[in-house]
Amino acid sequence: MLADRTKLIKPSATLEITAKAKEMRKKGIKIISLAAGEPDFSSPKEVKEAVCRALEENFIYYTPAQGIPELREAVARKFNKDYGTDYTEENVIITAGAKQAIYLAVQALVNPKEEVLIHTPAWVSYEPIVNLALAKPVFVKTEENFKLTRESLEKAVTEKTKALILNYPNNPTGAVMDKKEMKEIIDFCLENDIYIISDEIYDKIVFKEFKSAASLTKEKEKIVIVNGFSKTYSMTGFRVGYAIASSEIVKAMTRMLSHSTSCVTSFVQKAALEALEKCDYFVEGMVKAFRERRDYMVKRLEEMDIDCVKPDGTFYAFPDFSKYERDSLKMADYLLTEAKVAVVPGIAFYAEGYQRLSFATSMENIEEGMNRIENALKKL
Ligand SMILES: Cc1ncc(COP(=O)(O)O)c(C=O)c1O
Repeated sequence: MLADRTKLIKPSATLEITAKAKEMRKKGIKIISLAAGEPDFSSPKEVKEAVCRALEENFIYYTPAQGIPELREAVARKFNKDYGTDYTEENVIITAGAKQAIYLAVQALVNPKEEVLIHTPAWVSYEPIVNLALAKPVFVKTEENFKLTRESLEKAVTEKTKALILNYPNNPTGAVMDKKEMKEIIDFCLENDIYIISDEIYDKIVFKEFKSAASLTKEKEKIVIVNGFSKTYSMTGFRVGYAIASSEIVKAMTRMLSHSTSCVTSFVQKAALEALEKCDYFVEGMVKAFRERRDYMVKRLEEMDIDCVKPDGTFYAFPDFSKYERDSLKMADYLLTEAKVAVVPGIAFYAEGYQRLSFATSMENIEEGMNRIENALKKL
């Protein structure tokens, strides 16, 4: 008999459609995928070389659970430079991706039955992470242009509210809150004694200015910044990320990490250090490509008369297909069957009517994908 907590994780809403796409591919049908959740670039060569060098130097043993000091220092230094903060290596923990950082932050801060606010549309893993802490996810719908407002938070807060998981630049919408909008949310949480877990994994993939939550207040005791190397440096398979928080929170997270995964893979930490120190050029090039692809995709959607808030960050667009079909699973299934284009239905992100279209694929694929979608819609 499995433990009760295993039942807290529901099967993915998109399981069937993903299986169908796989079947179609097996049959040799050429599907254009606009469903990717990771950059289509290879990791920088400096990063790969750093792994080889670390192996040659036999850097293959356990590291401190919190992460190697030189990487923690580099994370703090770069973050301080970018956002004008004054963190030190004591405030940084290296984790197996941003996902583990969020998991540990929730485990460290939230008691069973306490409530965690999640703004929607939302990334898929927040709800299960909160459930696994035996806490209660409370969904807060965002307002215009997918921005979270103080008013909607006010309505959702109860005496059990412990934390908010904030995610801008946002997956799946690509929305980026400006400085003033972010500050309003941070101030509201601090006034109401609510922790902020700010998932800023897309902070460098932006087409306008973004300011980290930590740069908007001097009171940082209740703020946990989460970030990582997966998206910024196209290193999803390396599994390396980090959290920046008060040393008390970092110590609590470290204790849990030390008894679950021990530490992040030694040579991967060396590769992450190289990325931070040498690979700004790579990020610049990638963001330039994403901007061109975004502009093209949004223009095509406009021409098809499909409403789409222009994404200011990430590599996703989140157009509203509800004038054709409100049931996003049905629409995604139609696009797969008729257009042979894979997208992710909005329901996976708690938002009916929408589809997430990723532009983390070649311009050629995007062009072909948009042509196919246009033709399929004409038949409706
Ligand atoms: C919003 C968001 N947060 C966190 C993650 C997890 O990233 P990582 O690979 O660093 O665990 C993702 C990955 O898709 C994401 O989209």
